[in-house]
Amino acid sequence: MNQEHRLQQRKVRFDFTDTPLHWVPNEPEASHIMNSLHLILPAGEFWFCRVYNKALPLVTDPQLREDVQGFVKQEAQHARAHDSALTPYLLRHGIDPTPFTRRVHWLFDQALCDFPLGDNAISRALQPWWLRQRVGLIAAVEHFTCVLGDWIITTRGLDNADPVMLDLLRWHGAEEVEHRSVAHDLHVHIGGSLLMRWLFMLIATPALIFLFSTAMKTMMRQDPVTRYRPGFLRLWYHLGKRDLMPRMGHVGRSVLRYFNPGYHPRSEGDIGVALNYLASSPAAQRAAAEKGPVSA
Ligand SMILES: [Fe+2]
Ligand SMILES: [Fe+2]
Repeated sequence: MNQEHRLQQRKVRFDFTDTPLHWVPNEPEASHIMNSLHLILPAGEFWFCRVYNKALPLVTDPQLREDVQGFVKQEAQHARAHDSALTPYLLRHGIDPTPFTRRVHWLFDQALCDFPLGDNAISRALQPWWLRQRVGLIAAVEHFTCVLGDWIITTRGLDNADPVMLDLLRWHGAEEVEHRSVAHDLHVHIGGSLLMRWLFMLIATPALIFLFSTAMKTMMRQDPVTRYRPGFLRLWYHLGKRDLMPRMGHVGRSVLRYFNPGYHPRSEGDIGVALNYLASSPAAQRAAAEKGPVSA
């Protein structure tokens, strides 16, 4: 359980008025790949919240219950923050995200909803099982968000990037490290097994690569500068070598750690570095000054 820290929602806001499309200077590919987060996360993280609100009545441990409630508030704010980049940032720069976001909303709002096969007796009987599967999938995805979050707050390769966009990604990454244990603990608490953990990592890895690759292509096709660039994996490999993305080997080794029977997310990332960033994040500081820290 998360004894070390009480999760709080920071009501951050970002003003993208001066943020260029290629917010990593002279690196349009890196900018588009990281902009994929704005296309995937609003639908994905609100889905996390719906699944967790459904799981909350099953949580009998008071500490975990508080953690799950804090997790939901943080993820909802992440979804809102990334969604706020769609119109004043991407659309302003002539990038229409809807060819992708239409499909991603279908995935999270319909294919992965409570009753994807309709509200009938079989679906109702399968609800506890279906909830456990979705919580297990979220736990696997949260492993990636912690690893990527730790990278974005510690890398120096993006220090000359647009400060507003970088603060959005670093604030989000730091909160991912902050609540790194909640998804795993919830999965175990409601009966998730080691085998399920392995299975969901095997599903989450290619699914995330597909989502990032497709979102990236949606934007690159609309940007004359990047219309004919190579595929996602090749770009990732080369950008990783220049510290503009986490290295493939770094992420690959983190996937292998997830298969260790003794795995627990508390050994992923550095909570001290994350909390230090949250204390110095311009957006988090503004949110604290405006309303004061809001307890989860
Ligand atoms: Fe998040
Ligand atoms: Fe998260």
